[in-house]
Amino acid sequence: SAPLPQRICCIGAGYVGGPTMAVIADRCPAITVTVVDLNAARIAAWNDPDLSRLPVYEPGLDQVVGRCRGRNLFFSTAVEEAIAAADMVFLSVNTPTKTRGLGAGQASDLKWVEASARTVAKAAQGHTIVVEKSTLPVRTAEAVKAILGAGVAGKSFSVLSNPEFLAEGTAIGDLEHPDRVLIGGDDPAAIDVLAAVYAHWVSPERILRTNLWSSELSKLTANAFLAQRISSINGIAAFCEATGADVREVARAIGADSRIGPKFLQAGPGFGGSCFQKDILNLVYLCRHYGLEEVAAYWEQVVRLNTWQQHRIARLVVTRLFGTVTGKRLAILGFAFKADTNDTRESPAIRIARDLLEEGAQLMIVDPKVSERQIGLDLGQPAGEGEGSWRLVASVEAAALGADALLLLTEWEQFAALDWMAIAAVMRQPAWLFDARGRADEAAARAAGLNVWRIGQG
Ligand code: UDX
Ligand code: UDX
Ligand code: ADP
Repeated sequence: SAPLPQRICCIGAGYVGGPTMAVIADRCPAITVTVVDLNAARIAAWNDPDLSRLPVYEPGLDQVVGRCRGRNLFFSTAVEEAIAAADMVFLSVNTPTKTRGLGAGQASDLKWVEASARTVAKAAQGHTIVVEKSTLPVRTAEAVKAILGAGVAGKSFSVLSNPEFLAEGTAIGDLEHPDRVLIGGDDPAAIDVLAAVYAHWVSPERILRTNLWSSELSKLTANAFLAQRISSINGIAAFCEATGADVREVARAIGADSRIGPKFLQAGPGFGGSCFQKDILNLVYLCRHYGLEEVAAYWEQVVRLNTWQQHRIARLVVTRLFGTVTGKRLAILGFAFKADTNDTRESPAIRIARDLLEEGAQLMIVDPKVSERQIGLDLGQPAGEGEGSWRLVASVEAAALGADALLLLTEWEQFAALDWMAIAAVMRQPAWLFDARGRADEAAARAAGLNVWRIGQG
């Protein structure tokens, strides 16, 4: 069997790098894993003795970090030192959509990838396997190779692509029991070394080997397909509402077809998260670059439908509340882009809340994990009072006080079993529940006297 790396360095202590390296360290006690980041506050948080204060909230992550930190898992700002000591370096830095210049709004901004590749070129010693972990547009490895290739004599590099498919909120489970591990590259010996790391806990038939480009493209394609299913079901949900069908029944019926499958058919307020929109727009940009206009337009429509769904929900709330929400209190249940995470990147709640603020509503937001500071950044205004304002409150009951409506936007477990009698009693009548996730106990809410709108229910 292939030799194991002795020291792994991961550049980027974010949502991907942190949990991934923690699981590698947990499963491979013989490997020393050092996660480095330029952001000293983030590293300090990873080193916080209080494990409830890690910078990433993931169920089970605290236990994994607790087992390995200080043993064979380290978090540090000494980037070059960790690279120099490592025989394998993961690049797990951020790759947001470019906000200006060529490809603005669609292409990925690779400046952090480029900067970290340059640091590796400078600091590495001997032979180093460099592994792309961030989602990167197809053919980025070529750029990384070019930067590394320009290095000094006595250094050599093998570049691999090893995209991460973990979903937030289930990161530890996804890492410990992956559907597959994908390793792309053109150096079989390097692929063997990385495969030997995963072989500690992943069975061999789940470790797929491809060329570099296929690996990079598979990540974009997987996310595009998943997002496409959500836009597809959300489009059908709107159609169900217009015609009297029920999207839950439709989803169950089509999901029973083994060619379609039951997962990712939950209609909702649109997909959020750091990956889906970014990866699709990347795919769109690349297709256009290669002259494939029809293909680009096809995938672009997935994002357009998603944006439309969010505006549609804000609009229908206003319409049901007699065409105006100016000065009205509305309770927003959930601000994270999905349950079990504190992440709000691209959360559908942001666009819906902004539309309602624009209409003059007073939003009472409840979310078990998202901070007031983050909501302020996302909504572009601090918490306040009066028309077009928002506040973060501690409980659904507090949010409902004097409110005309509740909007269920994130499927947090605690929102599934609420005391609807108590809630309805403190709302202004006639009161509404807008269940954009289809998760509330609708019968109980109706029994408490609320008017109920549920996503996809005609
Ligand atoms: C389809 C549905 O499968 C069936 O459930 C429904 O009742 C009727 O329509 P059918 O048209 O007989 O059945 O054939 P199907 O095997 O689904 O193929 C349809 C077309 O898609 C064919 O031209 C086939 O070549 C093509 N196809 C199918 C692909 O190009 N790629 C695939 O992966 C699958
Ligand atoms: C996703 C991919 O699942 C993961 O493989 C990839 O590595 C990163 O992107 P993530 O963004 O963490 O993971 O969350 P995911 O569970 O996929 O949900 C994305 C969005 O789709 C959320 O806003 C979620 O609420 C929404 N969604 C998901 C639905 O609206 N309906 C569904 O049926 C599933
Ligand atoms: P992801 O969701 O892909 O993990 P994050 O934004 O959560 O992305 O994390 C990426 C991390 O990478 C950030 O903490 C950022 O500070 C770090 N980073 C970016 N560029 C560099 C670099 N050149 N050297 C070290 N760390 C970097």
